[in-house]
Parts: sequence; structure tokens; C-alpha cells
Amino acid sequence: MTVDRQSVRASRTVPNSLPASIPFAAMPQHPGSLLSVADLTLDQITHILARASALESEDPLARAHRLAKRRIALLFYESSTRTRTSFELAAKSLGADTTLVSSLSSSIEKGESLKDTGLTLRALGAQAIILRHPSSGAPWLLSQVTGLPILNAGDGLHEHPSQALLDLRTILACLRPGVASITADTLTGVTVTITGDILHSRVARSNMLLLPRLGARVQLCGPPALLPAIAAEIGPGIIIERDFDRALASSQIVMMLRIQAERLAGLQLDLDEYRRDFQLSAQRLAAYAPTAPVLHPGPVIRGLELTAEVADGAQSRILDQVRNGVAIRMALVERALDSSGVTQ
Ligand code: CP
Repeated sequence: MTVDRQSVRASRTVPNSLPASIPFAAMPQHPGSLLSVADLTLDQITHILARASALESEDPLARAHRLAKRRIALLFYESSTRTRTSFELAAKSLGADTTLVSSLSSSIEKGESLKDTGLTLRALGAQAIILRHPSSGAPWLLSQVTGLPILNAGDGLHEHPSQALLDLRTILACLRPGVASITADTLTGVTVTITGDILHSRVARSNMLLLPRLGARVQLCGPPALLPAIAAEIGPGIIIERDFDRALASSQIVMMLRIQAERLAGLQLDLDEYRRDFQLSAQRLAAYAPTAPVLHPGPVIRGLELTAEVADGAQSRILDQVRNGVAIRMALVERALDSSGVTQ
């Protein structure tokens, strides 16, 4: 992906709505699945966070017996570094056998459907599937056709639930260290500002669905082309502030997003203007949010949404997020297979 061009221009009109929520909540699904972060109760989130901490601190030799001989397939139709690697390392840490199927090196390239790919993986012995797919809702389809636990590793513009959970673990470590249980008040008084390409961000949506349930105020910031006004209607506790400096000044957590150049076709965006108005620089951070932790789901495009100085700076928690990804995904993989009744 190249983002160092000065502008991205094509013929599509600027969209004025975020993709609709997937209306699949009522569909039966395997209890070990994680399709949407909205499916989790606060008690379940508490349990996942507790298991992440317990597994992270467990003796690696003991941990490696937990899912011995279990089989997990990673089915990735889009590229990924953090999510794929951390799910794979998480599953392997628990002793599971993993196999990676990517769209570029499998029969998907020959036209095999998601349904047939899922059924084939099940026939090969996969007991859970971790899916990243460019189409919103694909994990629900895979869940229906296979009946297996499915972990949504990012579906289109829709959701990235494990990212929201690792973001939550990062936020709690910064602002509420030692908190034992998640309640509707856990993040009361906290404003999390998410800035950048909200329109294309499944990370933003999952955080918007999760954080207000814990009492946080989610403040969205960005230009109308990347942040349509309707975004504030996704749920309660979400507001829009277009002035980045003002948004920073009221933030306890600053979350920056990459401009998803691969999904921008048709949007008009002047990148020099974008940098001027929305880039997180060291000067801006020092002036308006000198103590707020800075998060970013990655991949980071240094020099665009934030400067290298900020990415490497004292307030950056970007690599903590990556580390938290392994712990959270260990808990999710364990939950996926434990709840199927095949492990103790
Ligand atoms: N945060 C995230 O989803 O990164 P990857 O695309 O590298 O998995």
C-alpha cells in the first residue's frame, strides 16, 4: 500500500453512512464463537480478561498441555501481521496444532467458496476456525455452515472483536490497573478519542460497541469523508468532535487509526490537509494531551496519522497492544475449544 501520494481521487461519491450492523444476533452459534464483541456479557468479558492474565503468567510447559492435539485452522482472506501471528502463537502456546489457509496459496484462488472451504477444513479435523474476510458477515456464514466455534479476526468494515478486547486490556492496564471485574462503571469518566478513518474501521466499530457499555465516552474525530455524522448513531455514549486539538484536550485515551488506502476508492482526500488537521505530532500531544496513552491497532503509517516520534514516544502503548493480543487470543482460543466440551 502506498500512502505517500498527495491525494487519493476517483469517481465514487463520498459515502454518508457506515455499513449497517449485521442483523445476525439471533442466529444460533457455537458458544465458543466470538463473532461480535456485542455478543459478550460483561461477566464473560471479565472471565476472558482473567483467563488472559492467568494463561499469560502460567508456566509455558503446563500451558502447552491445555489444548494438546486440538486442531485450529486460521483462514485468512486478507493480509495480517498482528492478528494472524498472535492467534497462531496463542494457539501454539496452548499446545494446539494450527494450520494457515490463506486466499493466495489455497484452492480459494481457484474459486472455492467460503462454505466449501469451511466444510473442507472441518472434514480435515479443524475444531475451530479463525477467520479474517473482506466481507462483513462472513464469520456468521461460516458459523452456520460448519457449526464450529468461529473466531472473527476481522470481517470487512464490520467488526474486529478480539482487537477491541486487547484494546480494553491495554486501557485497563493504563487507567484501572488491578481491576478485577468489568461493570457498567469500570470506565466511567474516561473519554477515548478515536481519530482517523472511522468509516472503514472495524476496530473503531468494535470499540464503539464495547467501551460505552463500560461507561466510557467514545469521541470520534476526523474529516467528514472518513467520519460521516451518522457514526454517532451506532450506539449511546458516542460523540463527534471535528477539532482534533479540542478532542485531544478532553481525552484520557488517544486511539489513532490508519487511513485504509486499500478501501479508499472514490474518496477525495488531500493528505497534506489531513496531516495538518489530524496528524498526531509530538507538539500536538504535548500541548493537548500530555499524559494520555496513545493506542493504534496497527499497521502504523509513520508520517501520516502520527509521527514516528509519537509512535516511539513515551506515551505510545502500541507494542503493549500487540503483546496483549497474544494473551487475549489465548483466552479466546481456550474458550473456543473448552466450550465445545472437548477440553477440561
Ligand atoms: N490490528 C490488526 O488487525 O492488525 P493486522 O492487520 O496486522 O492483523
